[in-house]
Amino acid sequence: MKLAIGCDHAAVELKQEIISHLQNRGIEVEDFGTYTNDSCDYPIYAEKVANEVVSKRADGGILICGTGVGISIAANKVKGVRCVVCSEPFSAKLSKMHNNTNILAFGARVVGLGMAKMIVDAWLDAEYEGGRHQHRVDLIHEIEEKQN
Ligand code: RB5
Repeated sequence: MKLAIGCDHAAVELKQEIISHLQNRGIEVEDFGTYTNDSCDYPIYAEKVANEVVSKRADGGILICGTGVGISIAANKVKGVRCVVCSEPFSAKLSKMHNNTNILAFGARVVGLGMAKMIVDAWLDAEYEGGRHQHRVDLIHEIEEKQN
């Protein structure tokens, strides 16, 4: 499995810890920045990771900013993205099981390292259930189609 990861200046240190955590799980990770604490714009990194995911160059994505809010909103503007922002593991798990989320976001100013790892693990370990949920996921993407 390969994941794409990105963050803004608020989350560089947490991102590094999460990369190590993922690598310890045997997951290949590609880091799309940002790489320093210099102030930057989170939509840039959201778009990079989102494009990796929808192109299938990555099997999923992880995005981190201060709150996880801006970077998840930006990612969800890319057609085919289903990005969830979580501050606890239950929503992360259910977002994969019911919504087949392909990007996970969280906030470095919201969760600590321990909680962030639990959120990541809950998301990675969950499986999409399909079935009755597929029609609803399809309806989400029908909304995208109507925008063009
Ligand atoms: C940056 O200060 C902050 O606005 C950003 O990391 C994020 O929280 C936006 O949603």
